[in-house]
Amino acid sequence: MSVLVTGGAGYIGSHAVLTLLQKGIDVIVIDDFSNSSLESLERVKKITNRDIKVYKGDVADLRLLNLIFSNHDIHTVIHFAGSKSVGESISKPIHYYNNNVVASLVLINEMMKRGIYNLIFSSSATVYGNSNTMPVTENAPIGMTTNPYGTSKLMIEKILDDVTRANSSFRVTVLRYFNPVGAHFSGEIGEDPNGIPNNLMPYVCQVAIGKYKQVSVYGRDYPTKDGTGVRDYIHVMDLAEGHVAALEHRNEGPNHKVYNLGTGKGYSVLDLLTTFERVTFRSVPYVLSERRPGDIAECWSDPSKAYRELGWKAKRGLEEMVRDAWNWQQKNPNGYIKA
Ligand code: UFG
Repeated sequence: MSVLVTGGAGYIGSHAVLTLLQKGIDVIVIDDFSNSSLESLERVKKITNRDIKVYKGDVADLRLLNLIFSNHDIHTVIHFAGSKSVGESISKPIHYYNNNVVASLVLINEMMKRGIYNLIFSSSATVYGNSNTMPVTENAPIGMTTNPYGTSKLMIEKILDDVTRANSSFRVTVLRYFNPVGAHFSGEIGEDPNGIPNNLMPYVCQVAIGKYKQVSVYGRDYPTKDGTGVRDYIHVMDLAEGHVAALEHRNEGPNHKVYNLGTGKGYSVLDLLTTFERVTFRSVPYVLSERRPGDIAECWSDPSKAYRELGWKAKRGLEEMVRDAWNWQQKNPNGYIKA
């Protein structure tokens, strides 16, 4: 029996595939490589000394899905595939709804038809929008998303909610990620954004390595301890282990479960910059600039439900996140050699 990982060559997907293989689980990957590289999986194979069957293509390609489901005995799908840039989603909403919502519908429908009744879905804290109470629990209201990317995640969550109500055999675990950063400690796999990074950690790494002059700190007048935005950064390996925990508990409790995957700690942009400089002995020049449209002041999780029910909690702190992100950046200044 195998696990199908959609988007398994991507940043979070590749770390999850590695963790699954190290647990002795057989993995099949489908990825269209639109924002990822086959090289990540080659490296995962090398680290784990295990093979991965990889299918290149779109999750919405019914013929390919049918081929995969016919060729392999799949008991669970972990669904990472999708487009993930907030900014891009605003200019390309149709692409985002197609690639995220429509593709997920095709996948869910095929799973139902074939009686593959276990799904772990990659969602995001973005579904909480501008929630006022921190830390955010899974019971916080959702729905106030501010961009098509966030809305696409919300729509998929709603679809899954309805489908699990209609079919009690279909078991879904929704994992809401906070801010994934870092890399596998080997520095062999990590985050390889297309073009100029939008997210803070990869941008800071690229400033430290000399690709960009300075970090623009978006906003200095938020109602936070130092005026800069506060987020719950989580090591990507902790996140990967959260998926294994969800997989191991898939048969327990209700058939639709939602968990925050975060550390429960909030760090400001300046906290992250200071920690980065301390850990790497590099200087990271920055300028305080205007707020980025759509950003919220602060967001951190209450991850206690995942601990209570899945026995999972994040083990790695901010220093380890920085150390591993920097190790990856130094070893791969230009990311993966594109396949
Ligand atoms: N920031 C800067 N300068 C930069 C980039 C970011 O100051 O160059 C700040 C942001 O304003 C924010 C913090 O750093 O305060 C984190 O920003 P990121 O872009 O790294 O992450 P976001 O919290 O904006 O978004 C992330 C994911 C989204 C997801 C969201 C969920 O990128 O996909 O978390 O909360 F939807």
